Amino acid sequence: MDGRDLVRSVKAIGSAGAAQGLRTVRAAWRRRRTDASGLPPRGAERARVPGPVRDAEPGPGGGVVRFNRSALRITVALNGAVFWGWDGVGPEPSYGLANPCPEPDPRAVLEPDKDGGWRVVAERVTVIVSRHGAVEVRTPGGVTLRRDLPPRWWEPVGGGPARWMQRSEVTADARFFGLGGRACGPRLRDGTYRLWNTDPGHPFGPGDDPLYVTMPVQLVVADAATHLAFHDTSWDGTVTLREGEEGAGSGHDRAGTCELRMDGGPLRCWVMVGTPARVLLAWASLTGAPALPPAWALGHHHARWGFGSEQEVRRIVSGYQERGLPLDVVHLDIDHYDAHQVFTVDQDRFPKLPVLAEELRRDGIRLVSIVDPAVKAEPGNAVFDAGVDGNAFVRDAAGRLVRGVVWPGETVHPDFTHARVREWWGRLYAERLAQGFSGFWHDMNEPTSFAAFGESTLPRSARHSLEGRGGDHREAHNVYALCMARAAYEGLRELAPQERPFIFSRSGWAGMQRYGGTWSGDVATGWPGLRASLSLVMGLGLCGVPYSGPDVGGYDGSPSPELFLRWFQLGAYLPLFRTHASLRAGRREPWEFGADVLEHARVALVERRRLLPYFVTLAHLARRTGAPYVRPLWWSAPEDRALRDCEDAFLLGDCLLVAPVLDPGADRRAVQLPRGRWYDTATGQAYEGPAQVLVDAPLSRIPVLVRAGAVIPVRGDDGGLELEVWAPARGRVGGGLVVPDAGDGWDEPEIERYVARWEGSRVVVEREGEGGVSEPPHPVRIRGLETD
Ligand code: NOJ
Repeated sequence: MDGRDLVRSVKAIGSAGAAQGLRTVRAAWRRRRTDASGLPPRGAERARVPGPVRDAEPGPGGGVVRFNRSALRITVALNGAVFWGWDGVGPEPSYGLANPCPEPDPRAVLEPDKDGGWRVVAERVTVIVSRHGAVEVRTPGGVTLRRDLPPRWWEPVGGGPARWMQRSEVTADARFFGLGGRACGPRLRDGTYRLWNTDPGHPFGPGDDPLYVTMPVQLVVADAATHLAFHDTSWDGTVTLREGEEGAGSGHDRAGTCELRMDGGPLRCWVMVGTPARVLLAWASLTGAPALPPAWALGHHHARWGFGSEQEVRRIVSGYQERGLPLDVVHLDIDHYDAHQVFTVDQDRFPKLPVLAEELRRDGIRLVSIVDPAVKAEPGNAVFDAGVDGNAFVRDAAGRLVRGVVWPGETVHPDFTHARVREWWGRLYAERLAQGFSGFWHDMNEPTSFAAFGESTLPRSARHSLEGRGGDHREAHNVYALCMARAAYEGLRELAPQERPFIFSRSGWAGMQRYGGTWSGDVATGWPGLRASLSLVMGLGLCGVPYSGPDVGGYDGSPSPELFLRWFQLGAYLPLFRTHASLRAGRREPWEFGADVLEHARVALVERRRLLPYFVTLAHLARRTGAPYVRPLWWSAPEDRALRDCEDAFLLGDCLLVAPVLDPGADRRAVQLPRGRWYDTATGQAYEGPAQVLVDAPLSRIPVLVRAGAVIPVRGDDGGLELEVWAPARGRVGGGLVVPDAGDGWDEPEIERYVARWEGSRVVVEREGEGGVSEPPHPVRIRGLETD
């Protein structure tokens, strides 16, 4: 232990309470010892590059190009995605891909290119392989979107996983997005971003990186096209990004660059090219459709660490009811467990949880339970005993249980990379269902194990099944939470087949949308935290995870009434709309901030409820198309440079443009409008885009604009579905999609398509179907007429 570790150890004992603090010191030591004996020392390494090309062998959708010291497998899939893998690796096995991997496109053929290189020409992309192993992705029009230079490996002389590095160039105008949930985005500026799911251990702000969900997924937006690159390896690594520079017509552009350095794992990549919508569609077809949440999960959630008792839960719920505030979901954190042990209930403070759940459900309120993966390592704990019997927990290289420290004290972690363990864990949710819970909030699954010093996760040498292939935590770490989500999802499908599982998870990886969503984690209370919340939701959406949201009000401390309100107003337009805070934080109930805040929060809650059918429609569209609910302004016009750089507003589906207030003291704000007519929904005033306009943003509301011609499904006063239609600009036609949903279950509702057009001085709305047009089956309300 060096001096700093000693200081950290003393601090840990002081801050976490003596017993838990001591445990974290012991755990840090244990972790270090485990890795010292369980990981081979880093010895001499040999560098390798592919060398010159030798020959090539065509195959379905592409083929293999052989170099002196490696071989490159290229396949263009039927969905237009391009795969390549060095050292001949194929796309599987992969934790990111949904089964089955897409079929190769038989029309894509490998053929010789000039200068001894090779190329594959497909419908939407051309891939050029140079004779030294650079790989270029070009648009059908011939613009090079991405050029991956020949990679380099460093192989341990004594054998073992090779480190590798690949540098790529993108066009000078390109902007980077993605890499999972990043607090500093959504546009990722020059810098190095780590790929290792991490609990920062304190409330985070825009400067904290990495966070809980990292993904080797880059979305690159440029004039010529958008592309998504997925380097399918779960190992630790870094991505260093540098935006390019345009030479203002001088012909001296500097390309943007991206350098990936990984500690191991296959060097393989998928690339999808097209419009943002097309790229996300291909991504969802590759990694799986986003799970459809039950409709109640699109309402308002209220959580807190430390509700503490059934009485307190009832008090909060009555607080909402007495004030006539909509509430759909209440979450119970670890304090409802018996001594913080997962899958238990403190019978003293929650003696009749199923009764409470039933009462709440009668009032239209669901209960969600936190689920931590760590199991208290104590004989007598039923989950521990069963897990030991079933050999479910992670072990070290010597075969001993790996012991960590989480809330219940000394813990062990299930190995979710084993199908048998997933099945066992999935069945444990039966206990939660019997307690009356309807949804599940996965926490601490980076995985986090407290340590006084060093990394607060499992030892890198800890062994994992990795579906029987065998490996260690270096490879399993980033997919741990993904596999936990799969366990829960598949378990719940068995246990409650009629219901849509509702799971959201703090950590995850590419493909996590198949099982559910995520949330911001412990975002710091403060204006920078508010901004970071939006960055996370937008960035994750561009990585294919459409359902997420922040802890409204921030996780720690006490927000000012103004900050709380602005956060609340933003949250009301995000997929997961949840107030949550830490045990030690100030209150977050909307009535705790004075009468004005309460009234303005009520407006936001009522509007959210009114928009529920729109959110449900967006959820269905996300599942069918991969398009996130929350989209950057450039979603439909990525070539618009002003939109590309705009990070403080977003599109909610096709219809709404939400411009949250992210700074204190503002009563109006500038909004960058995409092309077309937009109405301010509060005033009805019309604006013509593209333009930057200044709109009012009084404390009572944030600006929300609507696209002229939009048809939006909303909840009418009687609870039925209504169509809110905003007049198209004169001479133009509008329209929209509506997915009428039963709220839960698996029926596939038919998408309703509407058209709105002028007929003389009237706006008419018609439903378009196979048999022609018909009257809409819902009441219609036309707005925006005053302006014409
Ligand atoms: C950490 C989570 O991020 C937070 O939301 C939760 O309240 C605490 N763990 C306690 O469970």
